[in-house]
Amino acid sequence: MVDCLDDTSFPYRLRHFPDWQYLLREVYNLYRFSSAGGSSQIRSHQKEVRHRLSRLLNNDPPMKQIQASEKPVCAHLSRALDSGRSYSTAPLARVIERIRDQLYWEFGYEKMSPGLSDKFAFSEFMGPKGPIVSEELILGLVLFAPGTTYPTHNHQDISESYFCLSGAISENDVGVYAPGSLILNPPEHPHRITTSDQEPSLLAYAWVGSPEKLVNPKMAFIRQRSK
Ligand SMILES: [Fe+2]
Repeated sequence: MVDCLDDTSFPYRLRHFPDWQYLLREVYNLYRFSSAGGSSQIRSHQKEVRHRLSRLLNNDPPMKQIQASEKPVCAHLSRALDSGRSYSTAPLARVIERIRDQLYWEFGYEKMSPGLSDKFAFSEFMGPKGPIVSEELILGLVLFAPGTTYPTHNHQDISESYFCLSGAISENDVGVYAPGSLILNPPEHPHRITTSDQEPSLLAYAWVGSPEKLVNPKMAFIRQRSK
């Protein structure tokens, strides 16, 4: 357990990095003040994220030093953050701007769909791998270039929510989600994301699951039958 590690294993704690502390507080506010749209399932997910996050904040979690890294899609990050400042999610967009040079962007799986390597990357900022170390909640960002289709996938034993911070996305061709919108994907729920043609889309995501599942999260791409 991370809590049992002594200070020599993790000499830095969250309190040493105020901008990262503010980042978590803004994520907390998003889950606190956004509407659940009358869905009890979404309300209980929001509550669970807040519960785990406030426990983390109270414990001043360890911070791992991680070398920042970019992917090609990061060329769209400035535009995504600029437009993200026009919406209710602006406080989060502003704090992401503060730490953007420290983020580690990755693809996360070895087999990349053709063409996706220029269109997509994610950056986990809290989870078992760090940089903010947590065993019970994963938080991160996903950035999509304009006109991206992220293939159908699901998450085994993990509840996922996406918060749209900028741009516009659709999931499973059902509805269009603008900044401030929240989508909940229960465990094993297949979902496919498409993004608008003109603007990049930045999403914040949360994964809730048991520590055993979060330490080695399983995601499966699902082959769609052509019609
Ligand atoms: Fe997902």
